[in-house]
Amino acid sequence: MSTLKKVVFPVAGLGTRFLPATKAVAKEMLAIVDKPLIQYAAEEAEKAGFETLIFVVGRTKNSIIDHFDKAYELETELAMRNKDALLKIVKDVVPKNVNCIFVRQSEALGLGHAVLCAESAVGNEPFAVILPDDLICNDGKNCMQQMVEVFNQHGGSIIGTQTVAIEESGKYGMVAGPKVADRVSMVDEIIEKPQPAEAPSDQAVVGRYILTPAIFDRLKTTERGAGGEIQLTDGIAALRKSEEVFAYSFEGTRYDCGSKIGYLQATVELALQHRELADEFRQYLKQLEI
Ligand code: UTP
Repeated sequence: MSTLKKVVFPVAGLGTRFLPATKAVAKEMLAIVDKPLIQYAAEEAEKAGFETLIFVVGRTKNSIIDHFDKAYELETELAMRNKDALLKIVKDVVPKNVNCIFVRQSEALGLGHAVLCAESAVGNEPFAVILPDDLICNDGKNCMQQMVEVFNQHGGSIIGTQTVAIEESGKYGMVAGPKVADRVSMVDEIIEKPQPAEAPSDQAVVGRYILTPAIFDRLKTTERGAGGEIQLTDGIAALRKSEEVFAYSFEGTRYDCGSKIGYLQATVELALQHRELADEFRQYLKQLEI
């Protein structure tokens, strides 16, 4: 049985690539077809067995708190109008047997800082981190389920990775190290946003982590790095000097929904799989003159 119970969603970033949409609305509340990114992330965590969802939110992110709260008026209205299917959709937003905690990051000082804000909610136990704007779709086990299995087998900390074109290295944390099992490597090197010439490999860190609580002490002494932010990657680089950190090349398709093109790709792909929409949407795409 896994000892992993808590998952952190750092959702306090400014989302500048989506302005003006993200001026008052959290990037993580943008919907792919009909479900906000944050809900895909929460469902992935629940399916992987996590019981405590810790959201690190910023000032403009109250919609995220509302989304996971009971919508009393809406539920009453839907019940009165006998809209049972819709009522179920609304009620199912908050997964059963799951506890939600909200923590504020009052200044967007970086992903590493956001994770550090969750320290008192996490306590002294290993925990997961999911970045909802990295939407990962699978037919089988979801990405976090796969990572929990790797953690149960290898221990230490686990970072989700994916092969990217080397020209893209400046957008990611990049890792390298020897292979220790199928899809699993040691992390010997990890660098945030290197130029292609400095990238140690073509393996990029994407938004899934399992970390030991020792990361918090490392983050407390992590200086501001790339972009003037406290980078989680730099904290992990310090962590790997005293503990094992593994890279896990997960199975699944990842959409970078923090970028407009990734968001559009996810929208088209998921609409083509959508129960109610797929046929009509496919017909629509076919008749487009592109
Ligand atoms: P991004 O690098 O995507 O930054 O953060 P961002 O601010 O959200 O978006 P852009 O680049 O300005 O468009 C990666 C993850 O880290 C969180 C974000 O919410 C996102 O989930 N984050 C980032 C924080 O929680 N706090 C921060 O200070 C920075």
